Amino acid sequence: MVPTLLRFPLIVAFVTFLAPQAVAQPKAETVSSRGGVVVCVSPPAAEVGLSILKNGGNAVDAAVATALAMAVTWPEAGNIGGGGFMMVAVPGREPVCIEYRETAPAKATADMFVKQAIGPYDHRVAGVPGTVRGLALAHEKFGKLPWRQVVQPAVELAEKGFVVNAVLANGLNRVLNDKNTTNAEFKRVYGKSDGTPWQAGDKLILPDLARTLQRIADKGADAFYRGELAELLEKEMIRGGGLITQADLNAYKAHERKAIHTTFRGYDIYGPPPPSSGGIVLAQMLNILENFDLKKHGRWSPETLHLMIEAMRRAYADRARYLGDPAFTKIPAELTTKQYAKKLATSIDLRKATPSAEVAPEIPIDRESDSTTHFSVIDKDGMAVSNTYTLENSYGNRVVVPGAGYLLNNEMTDFNPRPGFTSSSGLIGTRPNQVAPGKRMLSSQTPVIVLKDGQPVLITGSPGGRTIINTSLCVVLNVLEFGMPIDEAVSAPRLHHQWFPDVVRFEGVQQHPELVQKLKQLGHRVTEARQGDAHSIAIDPQSGIRIGAADKRLDGKAVGE
Ligand code: DON
Repeated sequence: MVPTLLRFPLIVAFVTFLAPQAVAQPKAETVSSRGGVVVCVSPPAAEVGLSILKNGGNAVDAAVATALAMAVTWPEAGNIGGGGFMMVAVPGREPVCIEYRETAPAKATADMFVKQAIGPYDHRVAGVPGTVRGLALAHEKFGKLPWRQVVQPAVELAEKGFVVNAVLANGLNRVLNDKNTTNAEFKRVYGKSDGTPWQAGDKLILPDLARTLQRIADKGADAFYRGELAELLEKEMIRGGGLITQADLNAYKAHERKAIHTTFRGYDIYGPPPPSSGGIVLAQMLNILENFDLKKHGRWSPETLHLMIEAMRRAYADRARYLGDPAFTKIPAELTTKQYAKKLATSIDLRKATPSAEVAPEIPIDRESDSTTHFSVIDKDGMAVSNTYTLENSYGNRVVVPGAGYLLNNEMTDFNPRPGFTSSSGLIGTRPNQVAPGKRMLSSQTPVIVLKDGQPVLITGSPGGRTIINTSLCVVLNVLEFGMPIDEAVSAPRLHHQWFPDVVRFEGVQQHPELVQKLKQLGHRVTEARQGDAHSIAIDPQSGIRIGAADKRLDGKAVGE
Protein backbone atom coordinates (compact mmCIF):
# COMPACT_ATOMS: atom_id res chain seq x y z
CA MET A 1 0.00 0.00 0.00
CA VAL A 2 1.38 3.36 -0.93
CA PRO A 3 0.64 6.10 1.59
CA THR A 4 -0.92 9.32 0.33
CA LEU A 5 1.13 12.47 0.30
CA LEU A 6 0.88 14.90 3.14
CA ARG A 7 -1.32 17.87 2.39
CA PHE A 8 0.34 21.23 2.42
CA PRO A 9 -1.05 24.56 3.58
CA LEU A 10 -2.17 26.74 0.75
CA ILE A 11 0.36 29.44 0.32
CA VAL A 12 -0.46 32.10 -2.17
CA ALA A 13 2.85 33.69 -2.91
CA PHE A 14 4.29 35.28 -5.96
CA VAL A 15 7.22 33.19 -7.01
CA THR A 16 10.14 35.50 -7.57
CA PHE A 17 13.01 33.06 -7.61
CA LEU A 18 12.06 31.78 -11.01
CA ALA A 19 13.19 32.88 -14.42
CA PRO A 20 11.18 35.99 -15.31
CA GLN A 21 10.56 35.02 -18.93
CA ALA A 22 7.03 33.65 -19.45
CA VAL A 23 6.75 30.37 -21.31
CA ALA A 24 3.50 30.17 -23.24
CA GLN A 25 1.95 26.91 -24.33
CA PRO A 26 0.09 27.64 -27.56
CA LYS A 27 -2.97 25.58 -28.36
CA ALA A 28 -2.22 22.59 -30.55
CA GLU A 29 -3.74 22.65 -34.03
CA THR A 30 -5.77 19.57 -34.84
CA VAL A 31 -7.10 17.62 -37.77
CA SER A 32 -9.66 14.86 -37.52
CA SER A 33 -9.97 12.00 -39.99
CA ARG A 34 -11.15 8.44 -40.44
CA GLY A 35 -8.31 7.97 -42.95
CA GLY A 36 -4.59 8.67 -42.84
CA VAL A 37 -3.03 11.49 -40.81
CA VAL A 38 0.44 13.08 -40.88
CA VAL A 39 1.66 15.56 -38.25
CA CYS A 40 5.06 17.23 -38.42
CA VAL A 41 6.81 20.52 -37.80
CA SER A 42 7.14 21.52 -41.46
CA PRO A 43 3.88 22.25 -43.36
CA PRO A 44 5.19 21.42 -46.88
CA ALA A 45 6.63 18.11 -45.61
CA ALA A 46 3.29 17.20 -43.97
CA GLU A 47 1.64 17.79 -47.35
CA VAL A 48 4.17 15.46 -48.99
CA GLY A 49 3.29 12.69 -46.51
CA LEU A 50 -0.42 13.22 -47.14
CA SER A 51 0.01 13.11 -50.94
CA ILE A 52 1.83 9.76 -50.59
CA LEU A 53 -1.08 8.39 -48.51
CA LYS A 54 -3.56 9.67 -51.07
CA ASN A 55 -1.60 7.98 -53.85
CA GLY A 56 -1.89 4.56 -52.24
CA GLY A 57 1.18 4.64 -50.01
CA ASN A 58 1.09 3.22 -46.50
CA ALA A 59 2.28 4.89 -43.27
CA VAL A 60 5.92 3.87 -43.83
CA ASP A 61 5.91 5.23 -47.40
CA ALA A 62 4.46 8.48 -46.06
CA ALA A 63 6.98 8.59 -43.20
CA VAL A 64 9.96 8.04 -45.52
CA ALA A 65 8.68 10.71 -47.91
CA THR A 66 8.04 13.13 -45.04
CA ALA A 67 11.50 12.55 -43.55
CA LEU A 68 13.21 13.16 -46.90
CA ALA A 69 11.04 16.22 -47.57
CA MET A 70 12.03 17.63 -44.17
CA ALA A 71 15.70 17.18 -45.13
CA VAL A 72 14.84 19.97 -47.61
CA THR A 73 12.18 22.06 -45.87
CA TRP A 74 13.34 21.86 -42.22
CA PRO A 75 17.13 22.10 -42.28
CA GLU A 76 17.26 22.71 -38.50
CA ALA A 77 16.73 19.00 -37.94
CA GLY A 78 15.29 17.27 -41.00
CA ASN A 79 18.22 15.49 -42.54
CA ILE A 80 20.00 12.93 -44.63
CA GLY A 81 23.27 13.64 -42.79
CA GLY A 82 22.06 12.61 -39.32
CA GLY A 83 20.23 9.68 -37.77
CA GLY A 84 17.26 8.59 -35.69
CA PHE A 85 14.69 6.02 -34.65
CA MET A 86 11.50 4.94 -36.40
CA MET A 87 8.86 2.94 -34.55
CA VAL A 88 6.59 0.99 -36.90
CA ALA A 89 3.34 -0.72 -35.86
CA VAL A 90 1.94 -2.97 -38.57
CA PRO A 91 -1.61 -4.08 -37.70
CA GLY A 92 -1.59 -7.51 -36.10
CA ARG A 93 2.16 -7.47 -35.40
CA GLU A 94 4.31 -6.38 -32.45
CA PRO A 95 5.71 -2.86 -33.15
CA VAL A 96 9.41 -2.76 -34.05
CA CYS A 97 12.11 -0.11 -34.18
CA ILE A 98 14.13 0.77 -37.25
CA GLU A 99 17.29 2.11 -35.62
CA TYR A 100 19.48 4.36 -37.75
CA ARG A 101 21.60 6.12 -35.15
CA GLU A 102 24.91 7.68 -36.23
CA THR A 103 28.12 5.78 -35.44
CA ALA A 104 31.56 6.87 -34.27
CA PRO A 105 34.08 6.74 -37.14
CA ALA A 106 36.92 4.18 -36.90
CA LYS A 107 39.35 6.97 -36.03
CA ALA A 108 37.35 8.08 -32.93
CA THR A 109 38.91 7.50 -29.49
CA ALA A 110 37.58 7.52 -25.91
CA ASP A 111 39.72 10.50 -24.97
CA MET A 112 39.23 12.54 -28.16
CA PHE A 113 37.25 15.25 -26.32
CA VAL A 114 39.80 15.36 -23.47
CA LYS A 115 42.97 15.51 -25.55
CA GLN A 116 41.82 18.51 -27.56
CA ALA A 117 39.15 21.19 -27.43
CA ILE A 118 36.50 20.11 -29.93
CA GLY A 119 33.53 22.45 -30.27
CA PRO A 120 30.09 21.63 -31.64
CA TYR A 121 30.83 23.07 -35.10
CA ASP A 122 33.92 21.01 -35.76
CA HIS A 123 34.21 18.37 -38.49
CA ARG A 124 35.33 15.87 -35.81
CA VAL A 125 31.91 15.85 -34.10
CA ALA A 126 30.13 14.36 -37.09
CA GLY A 127 29.08 10.74 -36.68
CA VAL A 128 28.67 8.43 -39.68
CA PRO A 129 25.16 9.36 -40.94
CA GLY A 130 22.41 6.75 -40.66
CA THR A 131 19.27 8.38 -42.05
CA VAL A 132 19.44 7.21 -45.66
CA ARG A 133 20.15 3.56 -44.69
CA GLY A 134 17.43 3.69 -42.03
CA LEU A 135 14.74 5.10 -44.29
CA ALA A 136 15.69 2.61 -47.01
CA LEU A 137 15.52 -0.28 -44.52
CA ALA A 138 12.08 0.83 -43.27
CA HIS A 139 10.88 1.10 -46.85
CA GLU A 140 12.34 -2.26 -47.87
CA LYS A 141 10.68 -4.02 -44.90
CA PHE A 142 7.32 -2.26 -44.80
CA GLY A 143 6.84 0.12 -47.76
CA LYS A 144 4.35 -0.45 -50.57
CA LEU A 145 5.09 2.16 -53.22
CA PRO A 146 8.28 2.10 -55.33
CA TRP A 147 11.29 3.75 -53.60
CA ARG A 148 11.67 6.30 -56.36
CA GLN A 149 8.09 7.48 -55.85
CA VAL A 150 8.61 8.19 -52.13
CA VAL A 151 11.91 10.03 -52.67
CA GLN A 152 10.76 12.11 -55.66
CA PRO A 153 8.74 14.76 -53.77
CA ALA A 154 11.87 15.73 -51.80
CA VAL A 155 13.85 16.00 -55.05
CA GLU A 156 11.22 18.35 -56.45
CA LEU A 157 11.08 20.51 -53.33
CA ALA A 158 14.86 20.96 -53.45
CA GLU A 159 15.01 21.46 -57.23
CA LYS A 160 12.07 23.80 -57.75
CA GLY A 161 12.31 25.40 -54.34
CA PHE A 162 9.69 25.96 -51.68
CA VAL A 163 8.26 28.95 -49.89
CA VAL A 164 10.00 29.82 -46.63
CA ASN A 165 7.62 30.65 -43.76
CA ALA A 166 8.31 33.03 -40.86
CA VAL A 167 9.57 30.31 -38.50
CA LEU A 168 12.11 29.00 -41.01
CA ALA A 169 13.13 32.52 -42.07
CA ASN A 170 13.84 33.44 -38.44
CA GLY A 171 15.77 30.21 -37.86
CA LEU A 172 17.91 30.72 -40.95
CA ASN A 173 18.61 34.37 -40.11
CA ARG A 174 19.58 33.42 -36.55
CA VAL A 175 22.07 30.78 -37.62
CA LEU A 176 23.49 32.84 -40.51
CA ASN A 177 24.11 35.80 -38.16
CA ASP A 178 25.71 33.67 -35.45
CA LYS A 179 29.46 34.25 -35.22
CA ASN A 180 29.95 30.49 -34.75
CA THR A 181 28.65 29.83 -38.26
CA THR A 182 31.87 29.94 -40.23
CA ASN A 183 31.49 27.26 -42.91
CA ALA A 184 31.60 29.00 -46.29
CA GLU A 185 29.56 26.31 -48.02
CA PHE A 186 26.83 26.61 -45.37
CA LYS A 187 26.64 30.36 -45.95
CA ARG A 188 26.60 29.90 -49.74
CA VAL A 189 23.87 27.26 -49.67
CA TYR A 190 21.61 28.71 -46.96
CA GLY A 191 22.36 32.44 -47.31
CA LYS A 192 20.17 34.53 -49.59
CA SER A 193 22.00 35.26 -52.85
CA ASP A 194 21.71 39.05 -52.41
CA GLY A 195 22.92 38.83 -48.79
CA THR A 196 19.69 40.24 -47.30
CA PRO A 197 17.84 38.47 -44.45
CA TRP A 198 15.27 35.78 -45.26
CA GLN A 199 11.64 36.88 -45.16
CA ALA A 200 8.45 34.83 -45.07
CA GLY A 201 7.38 34.29 -48.68
CA ASP A 202 10.92 33.97 -50.10
CA LYS A 203 11.79 30.85 -52.07
CA LEU A 204 14.64 28.52 -51.05
CA ILE A 205 16.13 26.38 -53.83
CA LEU A 206 18.76 23.71 -53.02
CA PRO A 207 20.16 22.43 -56.34
CA ASP A 208 23.06 20.33 -54.93
CA LEU A 209 20.74 18.64 -52.44
CA ALA A 210 18.28 18.01 -55.29
CA ARG A 211 20.99 16.17 -57.27
CA THR A 212 21.96 14.11 -54.21
CA LEU A 213 18.34 13.17 -53.55
CA GLN A 214 17.87 12.33 -57.24
CA ARG A 215 20.83 9.90 -57.02
CA ILE A 216 19.30 8.34 -53.93
CA ALA A 217 15.94 8.08 -55.75
CA ASP A 218 17.57 6.43 -58.78
CA LYS A 219 20.12 4.15 -57.12
CA GLY A 220 18.85 3.59 -53.56
CA ALA A 221 20.74 4.05 -50.29
CA ASP A 222 24.02 2.72 -51.75
CA ALA A 223 24.30 5.96 -53.72
CA PHE A 224 24.86 7.77 -50.40
CA TYR A 225 27.26 5.28 -48.80
CA ARG A 226 29.43 4.35 -51.80
CA GLY A 227 30.89 5.99 -54.90
CA GLU A 228 30.76 9.67 -55.72
CA LEU A 229 28.72 10.91 -52.73
CA ALA A 230 30.93 8.98 -50.30
CA GLU A 231 33.99 10.48 -52.00
CA LEU A 232 32.58 14.00 -51.58
CA LEU A 233 32.07 13.46 -47.85
CA GLU A 234 35.56 12.01 -47.39
CA LYS A 235 37.06 14.92 -49.34
CA GLU A 236 35.27 17.42 -47.05
CA MET A 237 36.48 15.50 -43.98
CA ILE A 238 40.07 15.70 -45.18
CA ARG A 239 39.68 19.41 -45.94
CA GLY A 240 38.11 20.17 -42.53
CA GLY A 241 40.17 17.77 -40.40
CA GLY A 242 37.24 15.39 -39.74
CA LEU A 243 37.29 11.66 -39.06
CA ILE A 244 34.78 10.01 -41.40
CA THR A 245 36.21 7.93 -44.26
CA GLN A 246 34.63 6.12 -47.19
CA ALA A 247 35.29 2.88 -45.30
CA ASP A 248 33.13 4.16 -42.40
CA LEU A 249 30.34 4.96 -44.85
CA ASN A 250 30.63 1.58 -46.60
CA ALA A 251 30.40 -0.22 -43.25
CA TYR A 252 27.34 1.64 -41.91
CA LYS A 253 24.27 -0.54 -41.16
CA ALA A 254 20.76 0.34 -39.95
CA HIS A 255 19.00 -2.28 -37.80
CA GLU A 256 15.53 -3.57 -37.21
CA ARG A 257 15.42 -3.98 -33.41
CA LYS A 258 12.93 -5.35 -30.93
CA ALA A 259 11.07 -2.45 -29.33
CA ILE A 260 11.10 -1.81 -25.58
CA HIS A 261 7.69 -2.77 -24.23
CA THR A 262 5.88 -2.15 -21.00
CA THR A 263 2.27 -1.93 -19.91
CA PHE A 264 0.57 0.96 -18.15
CA ARG A 265 -3.01 0.68 -16.86
CA GLY A 266 -3.78 -1.96 -19.48
CA TYR A 267 -2.17 -0.13 -22.41
CA ASP A 268 0.87 -1.49 -24.28
CA ILE A 269 3.64 1.09 -24.58
CA TYR A 270 6.40 0.66 -27.18
CA GLY A 271 9.54 2.78 -27.47
CA PRO A 272 13.01 2.56 -29.03
CA PRO A 273 15.67 0.26 -27.52
CA PRO A 274 19.36 1.15 -26.98
CA PRO A 275 21.29 2.89 -28.42
CA SER A 276 18.40 5.13 -27.42
CA SER A 277 17.77 5.43 -23.71
CA GLY A 278 14.23 6.59 -24.51
CA GLY A 279 12.31 3.31 -24.42
CA ILE A 280 13.92 1.98 -21.24
CA VAL A 281 13.76 5.24 -19.28
CA LEU A 282 10.13 5.85 -20.31
CA ALA A 283 9.15 2.27 -19.38
CA GLN A 284 10.93 2.59 -16.05
CA MET A 285 9.16 5.87 -15.20
CA LEU A 286 5.73 4.53 -16.18
CA ASN A 287 6.34 1.35 -14.18
CA ILE A 288 7.27 3.41 -11.10
CA LEU A 289 4.27 5.73 -11.51
CA GLU A 290 1.84 2.85 -11.96
CA ASN A 291 2.31 2.21 -8.23
CA PHE A 292 0.54 5.50 -7.41
CA ASP A 293 -2.95 6.82 -8.05
CA LEU A 294 -1.98 9.99 -9.89
CA LYS A 295 -5.49 10.51 -11.20
CA LYS A 296 -6.84 10.76 -7.69
CA HIS A 297 -4.27 13.42 -6.81
CA GLY A 298 -4.99 15.40 -9.99
CA ARG A 299 -2.75 16.48 -12.86
CA TRP A 300 -1.60 19.78 -11.31
CA SER A 301 -1.27 18.59 -7.73
CA PRO A 302 2.05 18.70 -5.84
CA GLU A 303 1.67 14.95 -5.26
CA THR A 304 1.58 14.12 -8.98
CA LEU A 305 4.44 16.43 -9.88
CA HIS A 306 6.56 15.26 -6.94
CA LEU A 307 6.05 11.62 -7.93
CA MET A 308 6.84 12.34 -11.57
CA ILE A 309 10.02 14.19 -10.58
CA GLU A 310 11.15 11.37 -8.28
CA ALA A 311 10.46 8.77 -10.99
CA MET A 312 12.45 10.88 -13.48
CA ARG A 313 15.35 11.28 -11.03
CA ARG A 314 15.66 7.52 -10.46
CA ALA A 315 15.27 6.48 -14.10
CA TYR A 316 17.76 9.09 -15.36
CA ALA A 317 20.31 7.95 -12.77
CA ASP A 318 20.00 4.43 -14.19
CA ARG A 319 20.38 5.91 -17.67
CA ALA A 320 23.81 7.23 -16.65
CA ARG A 321 24.69 4.03 -14.82
CA TYR A 322 23.78 1.44 -17.40
CA LEU A 323 22.86 2.68 -20.86
CA GLY A 324 24.93 2.80 -24.03
CA ASP A 325 25.31 1.01 -27.35
CA PRO A 326 24.21 -2.61 -26.67
CA ALA A 327 27.00 -3.90 -28.94
CA PHE A 328 29.51 -2.55 -26.39
CA THR A 329 27.62 -2.59 -23.08
CA LYS A 330 25.58 -5.24 -21.29
CA ILE A 331 22.27 -3.66 -20.28
CA PRO A 332 20.49 -5.27 -17.29
CA ALA A 333 17.13 -6.76 -18.35
CA GLU A 334 15.80 -5.92 -14.87
CA LEU A 335 15.51 -2.20 -15.68
CA THR A 336 12.09 -2.47 -17.30
CA THR A 337 10.54 -4.99 -14.90
CA LYS A 338 7.58 -4.14 -12.66
CA GLN A 339 9.41 -5.69 -9.71
CA TYR A 340 12.39 -3.36 -10.05
CA ALA A 341 10.05 -0.38 -10.48
CA LYS A 342 8.24 -1.30 -7.27
CA LYS A 343 11.56 -1.26 -5.43
CA LEU A 344 12.30 2.20 -6.81
CA ALA A 345 8.75 3.38 -6.03
CA THR A 346 9.13 2.43 -2.37
CA SER A 347 12.37 4.42 -2.20
CA ILE A 348 10.43 7.64 -2.91
CA ASP A 349 9.90 9.80 0.17
CA LEU A 350 6.46 11.30 -0.23
CA ARG A 351 7.25 14.22 2.07
CA LYS A 352 10.47 15.43 0.52
CA ALA A 353 12.69 15.44 -2.54
CA THR A 354 15.47 12.84 -2.59
CA PRO A 355 18.81 14.57 -3.28
CA SER A 356 20.11 13.27 -6.61
CA ALA A 357 23.51 12.47 -5.08
CA GLU A 358 21.79 9.84 -2.88
CA VAL A 359 20.22 8.03 -5.83
CA ALA A 360 23.51 6.86 -7.38
CA PRO A 361 26.13 7.34 -4.63
CA GLU A 362 28.66 5.11 -6.40
CA ILE A 363 29.04 7.56 -9.31
CA PRO A 364 31.55 10.20 -8.19
CA ILE A 365 30.24 13.69 -8.88
CA ASP A 366 32.80 16.31 -9.90
CA ARG A 367 32.19 20.04 -10.39
CA GLU A 368 32.05 21.38 -13.29
CA SER A 369 16.83 24.03 -29.06
CA ASP A 370 14.95 22.75 -31.35
CA SER A 371 17.28 20.72 -33.35
CA THR A 372 15.72 17.33 -33.46
CA THR A 373 12.30 16.72 -34.91
CA HIS A 374 9.50 14.26 -34.38
CA PHE A 375 6.60 13.33 -36.63
CA SER A 376 3.69 10.91 -36.41
CA VAL A 377 1.83 9.10 -39.18
CA ILE A 378 -1.10 6.70 -39.40
CA ASP A 379 -2.62 5.33 -42.59
CA LYS A 380 -6.21 4.32 -43.33
CA ASP A 381 -5.46 0.67 -42.47
CA GLY A 382 -4.07 1.49 -39.03
CA MET A 383 -0.34 1.12 -39.76
CA ALA A 384 1.38 3.61 -37.43
CA VAL A 385 4.79 5.30 -37.58
CA SER A 386 6.44 7.36 -34.85
CA ASN A 387 9.73 8.85 -36.04
CA THR A 388 12.30 11.04 -34.35
CA TYR A 389 15.49 12.01 -36.16
CA THR A 390 18.15 14.63 -35.68
CA LEU A 391 21.35 16.44 -36.58
CA GLU A 392 21.86 16.96 -32.78
CA ASN A 393 22.18 20.80 -32.69
CA SER A 394 20.12 23.05 -34.96
CA TYR A 395 21.69 22.68 -38.42
CA GLY A 396 24.04 20.03 -36.95
CA ASN A 397 27.67 21.08 -37.08
CA ARG A 398 26.71 23.74 -39.67
CA VAL A 399 28.91 22.12 -42.29
CA VAL A 400 27.44 21.49 -45.75
CA VAL A 401 29.22 18.86 -47.85
CA PRO A 402 30.33 20.73 -51.00
CA GLY A 403 28.80 19.31 -54.15
CA ALA A 404 26.40 17.10 -52.15
CA GLY A 405 24.44 19.91 -50.52
CA TYR A 406 23.53 18.23 -47.23
CA LEU A 407 24.22 19.21 -43.64
CA LEU A 408 26.33 17.11 -41.29
CA ASN A 409 25.36 16.17 -37.75
CA ASN A 410 27.30 16.84 -34.53
CA GLU A 411 26.05 13.69 -32.83
CA MET A 412 29.46 12.69 -31.39
CA THR A 413 28.70 15.21 -28.62
CA ASP A 414 26.09 12.73 -27.31
CA PHE A 415 28.90 10.46 -26.11
CA ASN A 416 30.14 10.99 -22.55
CA PRO A 417 32.98 13.39 -23.35
CA ARG A 418 35.25 13.02 -20.30
CA PRO A 419 35.67 9.39 -19.22
CA GLY A 420 35.05 9.13 -15.47
CA PHE A 421 33.94 12.75 -15.06
CA THR A 422 30.33 13.15 -13.95
CA SER A 423 29.32 16.56 -12.68
CA SER A 424 26.41 17.96 -10.72
CA SER A 425 25.79 20.28 -13.67
CA GLY A 426 24.74 17.32 -15.82
CA LEU A 427 27.95 16.21 -17.53
CA ILE A 428 28.09 12.40 -17.52
CA GLY A 429 31.32 10.41 -17.71
CA THR A 430 30.18 6.87 -16.94
CA ARG A 431 31.62 3.97 -18.91
CA PRO A 432 28.63 2.66 -20.93
CA ASN A 433 28.50 5.73 -23.19
CA GLN A 434 32.18 6.53 -23.67
CA VAL A 435 33.48 6.97 -27.23
CA ALA A 436 34.77 3.93 -29.11
CA PRO A 437 35.29 3.34 -32.83
CA GLY A 438 32.18 1.95 -34.52
CA LYS A 439 30.03 2.59 -31.43
CA ARG A 440 26.61 4.31 -31.46
CA MET A 441 26.30 7.26 -29.06
CA LEU A 442 23.48 7.08 -26.50
CA SER A 443 20.34 8.93 -27.54
CA SER A 444 17.27 10.20 -25.70
CA GLN A 445 15.02 10.06 -28.74
CA THR A 446 11.70 8.51 -27.71
CA PRO A 447 9.25 7.95 -30.53
CA VAL A 448 6.34 6.12 -28.86
CA ILE A 449 3.44 4.00 -30.06
CA VAL A 450 0.72 2.99 -27.57
CA LEU A 451 -1.62 0.10 -28.37
CA LYS A 452 -4.85 -0.94 -26.69
CA ASP A 453 -5.97 -4.47 -27.51
CA GLY A 454 -3.51 -4.48 -30.42
CA GLN A 455 -4.81 -1.22 -31.97
CA PRO A 456 -2.81 2.03 -31.96
CA VAL A 457 -4.32 4.68 -29.67
CA LEU A 458 -1.44 7.15 -29.36
CA ILE A 459 1.60 8.12 -31.45
CA THR A 460 3.94 10.69 -29.94
CA GLY A 461 7.53 11.85 -29.44
CA SER A 462 9.56 15.06 -29.36
CA PRO A 463 12.87 16.84 -29.81
CA GLY A 464 14.70 18.35 -26.82
CA GLY A 465 17.86 16.39 -25.93
CA ARG A 466 17.53 14.73 -22.54
CA THR A 467 14.10 16.38 -22.03
CA ILE A 468 12.70 14.24 -24.86
CA ILE A 469 11.90 11.22 -22.68
CA ASN A 470 10.05 13.38 -20.17
CA THR A 471 8.07 15.15 -22.88
CA SER A 472 6.92 11.75 -24.12
CA LEU A 473 6.11 10.78 -20.51
CA CYS A 474 4.00 13.94 -20.04
CA VAL A 475 1.98 13.33 -23.23
CA VAL A 476 1.49 9.62 -22.42
CA LEU A 477 0.32 10.37 -18.85
CA ASN A 478 -1.90 13.25 -19.99
CA VAL A 479 -3.76 10.91 -22.34
CA LEU A 480 -3.68 7.55 -20.53
CA GLU A 481 -3.84 8.59 -16.87
CA PHE A 482 -5.67 11.91 -17.03
CA GLY A 483 -7.89 11.31 -20.08
CA MET A 484 -7.02 14.58 -21.78
CA PRO A 485 -7.94 15.06 -25.43
CA ILE A 486 -4.79 15.02 -27.55
CA ASP A 487 -4.69 18.78 -28.25
CA GLU A 488 -4.83 19.49 -24.51
CA ALA A 489 -2.30 16.73 -23.81
CA VAL A 490 0.14 18.27 -26.30
CA SER A 491 -0.36 21.87 -25.15
CA ALA A 492 -0.22 21.19 -21.39
CA PRO A 493 2.84 22.49 -19.45
CA ARG A 494 5.69 19.97 -19.37
CA LEU A 495 8.03 18.89 -16.62
CA HIS A 496 11.65 17.74 -16.65
CA HIS A 497 14.18 16.37 -14.19
CA GLN A 498 17.26 14.44 -15.34
CA TRP A 499 19.01 13.42 -12.09
CA PHE A 500 21.73 16.04 -12.56
CA PRO A 501 21.55 19.00 -12.46
CA ASP A 502 19.25 18.46 -9.47
CA VAL A 503 16.75 20.99 -10.77
CA VAL A 504 13.18 20.72 -11.99
CA ARG A 505 12.26 22.43 -15.23
CA PHE A 506 8.56 23.25 -15.47
CA GLU A 507 6.71 25.02 -18.27
CA GLY A 508 3.76 25.88 -16.03
CA VAL A 509 5.50 28.20 -13.56
CA GLN A 510 3.37 31.20 -14.52
CA GLN A 511 0.06 29.30 -14.52
CA HIS A 512 0.71 27.33 -11.33
CA PRO A 513 2.57 29.54 -8.82
CA GLU A 514 1.03 27.81 -5.78
CA LEU A 515 2.02 24.42 -7.09
CA VAL A 516 5.59 25.64 -7.63
CA GLN A 517 5.64 26.95 -4.08
CA LYS A 518 4.60 23.54 -2.76
CA LEU A 519 7.24 21.78 -4.82
CA LYS A 520 9.77 24.15 -3.32
CA GLN A 521 8.57 23.24 0.17
CA LEU A 522 9.19 19.59 -0.70
CA GLY A 523 12.81 20.52 -1.42
CA HIS A 524 12.74 20.84 -5.22
CA ARG A 525 14.51 23.63 -7.05
CA VAL A 526 12.25 24.77 -9.89
CA THR A 527 13.11 26.75 -13.01
CA GLU A 528 11.05 27.69 -16.01
CA ALA A 529 11.86 26.55 -19.55
CA ARG A 530 10.04 25.75 -22.75
CA GLN A 531 10.08 22.03 -23.54
CA GLY A 532 9.68 19.96 -26.67
CA ASP A 533 7.66 19.87 -29.85
CA ALA A 534 5.43 16.80 -29.73
CA HIS A 535 3.56 16.27 -33.00
CA SER A 536 1.13 13.53 -32.01
CA ILE A 537 -1.86 11.47 -33.10
CA ALA A 538 -4.55 9.95 -30.88
CA ILE A 539 -6.96 7.32 -32.14
CA ASP A 540 -10.33 6.72 -30.51
CA PRO A 541 -10.62 2.93 -30.33
CA GLN A 542 -14.44 3.09 -30.32
CA SER A 543 -15.10 5.39 -33.27
CA GLY A 544 -11.78 4.82 -35.05
CA ILE A 545 -11.44 8.60 -35.49
CA ARG A 546 -7.86 9.83 -35.62
CA ILE A 547 -6.98 13.26 -34.27
CA GLY A 548 -3.64 14.70 -35.32
CA ALA A 549 -2.33 17.45 -33.04
CA ALA A 550 0.42 19.76 -34.28
CA ASP A 551 2.37 21.21 -31.36
CA LYS A 552 2.52 24.96 -32.04
CA ARG A 553 5.38 25.69 -29.64
CA LEU A 554 7.52 25.96 -32.77
CA ASP A 555 5.51 25.42 -35.95
CA GLY A 556 3.73 22.45 -37.40
CA LYS A 557 0.84 21.09 -39.33
CA ALA A 558 -1.59 18.22 -38.95
CA VAL A 559 -3.12 17.00 -42.21
CA GLY A 560 -5.59 14.20 -42.85
CA GLU A 561 -7.24 12.33 -45.71
O1 DON B 1 19.75 11.79 -29.76
C1 DON B 1 19.64 12.60 -28.85
O2 DON B 1 19.20 12.33 -27.76
C2 DON B 1 20.04 14.04 -29.10
N1 DON B 1 21.05 14.13 -30.11
C3 DON B 1 18.84 14.83 -29.46
C4 DON B 1 19.18 16.29 -29.65
C5 DON B 1 18.02 17.16 -29.53
O3 DON B 1 16.91 16.75 -29.31
C6 DON B 1 18.31 18.59 -29.60
N2 DON B 1 17.14 19.36 -29.64
N3 DON B 1 16.24 19.80 -29.41
